[in-house]
Amino acid sequence: MVVTVVPTGWHVAASAGKVVVHAQRCGEAVMTLDITPSGKVCGATIRGVDLTQPLDTQTVAAIRSAWLEHLVIAFPDQVLTDEQLEAFTLNFGPFGTDPYFESVDGHPNIAAVHRAADETSRIFADNWHADWTFQEFPPDGTCLYGKVIPAVGGDTLYVNQKAALAAMPADLRARIDGVVAVHSARGAYAPDGAYGEADSEPRAMKIKTDESAYATQRHPLIRIHPETGDETLYSTAGYIIDLETENGGALLKEVYEWQTRDEFQYRHKWEPNMLTMWDNRCVLHKATGGYDGQERLLHRTTIGYNEAVRAS
Ligand SMILES: [Fe+2]
Repeated sequence: MVVTVVPTGWHVAASAGKVVVHAQRCGEAVMTLDITPSGKVCGATIRGVDLTQPLDTQTVAAIRSAWLEHLVIAFPDQVLTDEQLEAFTLNFGPFGTDPYFESVDGHPNIAAVHRAADETSRIFADNWHADWTFQEFPPDGTCLYGKVIPAVGGDTLYVNQKAALAAMPADLRARIDGVVAVHSARGAYAPDGAYGEADSEPRAMKIKTDESAYATQRHPLIRIHPETGDETLYSTAGYIIDLETENGGALLKEVYEWQTRDEFQYRHKWEPNMLTMWDNRCVLHKATGGYDGQERLLHRTTIGYNEAVRAS
């Protein structure tokens, strides 16, 4: 059953798995959000809104509700400029800090996720992760906008970490209750990390490596989502380099095997001009290949840690 959280002043109609949210002010319908859940453990497609235009408060609230409910939301058929992508992002929080990407010219908060048609390097970010969890105040979400999308391949996989925790066997859950995870970017972005000196094949994507990646940061492995109050697993092996408990490495591997199971996954298929936004606090994601010989280009913004939603 789909439960939709609706802002005050909105009406909801649901049929055949589709949810239509009407904005009504003074009895007059002013806008309709057409939300189609993926039917999987997360994911929904939203139509009926023009993201090239500034969004009113009610529309932003309705999109935020859909985001919190479905965790990964996609807006197809939106022809956006970089400025419009930036404006959309700022409806949901401040820009996050992207320490290991170079930005696109003139847009310090946009990075290009880019793979050239003739590229032979390992697919970028093809391991499960949540973005930038090694930061003290990690981002709340990520926006990714499809510009050049291959005809086949290049899907993004997501796993719902609220669902994974809720279904976790009691004995495993008991062993991770209260456990703190140690995060670091070293495996990816240190000079000797995966994108460092050893990454010798040319890449279209402009990735930076730095000594700062050796730093560590601690976060609880189970966290409370700051907006929904739901319990969720947070991040996974990769950015998590250890768990602060006996046999932490073995336990981390066991948690990884559970939290990435097929039953918690949603496979997202891209289209050109599709904007996708996910909740970095309660999903993991990873890139996939399968498009050798084709270019793929997306523009990315990061929704930073939002003090305002934590204070309310
Ligand atoms: Fe990512």
